[in-house]
Amino acid sequence: MSNDREIFIEVRNLHQRFGRHRVLRGVNLEIYRGETLCILGGSGGGKSVLIKHLCGLMRPWKGSVVVEGEDITDLPERALGTVRRKVSMMFQGGALFDSFTVGQNIAFPLREAGLRDQKEINARVSRALEIVRMPGQEKKMPADLSGGMRKRVALARAVVEMPLCVLYDEPHAGLDPITSDSIDHLIKDLEIDHKITNVVITHELRSVFRIADRIAFMKEGVIYWSGTAEELAASKDPELVNFVQGRAENRGEWDQGTPRIDTSE
Ligand SMILES: Nc1ncnc2c1ncn2[C@@H]1O[C@H](COP(=O)(O)OP(=O)(O)O)[C@@H](O)[C@H]1O
Ligand SMILES: [Mg+2]
Repeated sequence: MSNDREIFIEVRNLHQRFGRHRVLRGVNLEIYRGETLCILGGSGGGKSVLIKHLCGLMRPWKGSVVVEGEDITDLPERALGTVRRKVSMMFQGGALFDSFTVGQNIAFPLREAGLRDQKEINARVSRALEIVRMPGQEKKMPADLSGGMRKRVALARAVVEMPLCVLYDEPHAGLDPITSDSIDHLIKDLEIDHKITNVVITHELRSVFRIADRIAFMKEGVIYWSGTAEELAASKDPELVNFVQGRAENRGEWDQGTPRIDTSE
């Protein structure tokens, strides 16, 4: 993480609801340029909803989101395209098109953005595959890939436009520990080699302790706590202790973890 602590995204008193169900109840959060921030919290707590606001995929009911000093809250859809090239999302589950090749999947955002030069598209797809350590695999079909490789292709698609920030919605879900480790390496490489700001929703504490510069813990629609991994480990707050111990007991994350079978293949 860079030391200068320049704010890259600022979430101000963000509220969101679905009908009468109030999911976000005043989220305040600063995301610093070049950091890896992990978002933790119970299932259904609003983590996915929160990060969809960071790239303009959802609009606040109340409050605002500021990206690089620009308030994106009321931007017209047209202008949000520019925001999404800066702040890119790796979706939960990868969300690949099964009838497209790997290359076509990765090229999709470029085509959406209006790029037509096939040479340029090929070059960018090839570079994205190099970044996720799958060089030359353009012609493969998603169905032929392991769960871990599908995640990498999803990540390649998220970085093909060379964003400044990548949002990851549970990138470790369904992966065995070794494959999770390789995703962690890619996330950290993006931070270190490409100066990308990472915002990672995950339940894998092992990963959190490896990759997080900072952690934000969500509860009841607000950021209940934020701090470093050391601060989380040392915290006596029963809420945090419960969460950490619960995860550790259920999944064995504090030791190296008993290898789990990758059921996503
Ligand atoms: N598009 C939607 N329409 C209605 N309810 C939604 C929608 N998206 C999320 N929710 C609800 O908002 C709550 C928070 O969801 P989510 O952000 O996905 O939780 P998390 O990612 O923390 O598990 C859940 O109760 C979920 O059912
Ligand atoms: Mg979610």
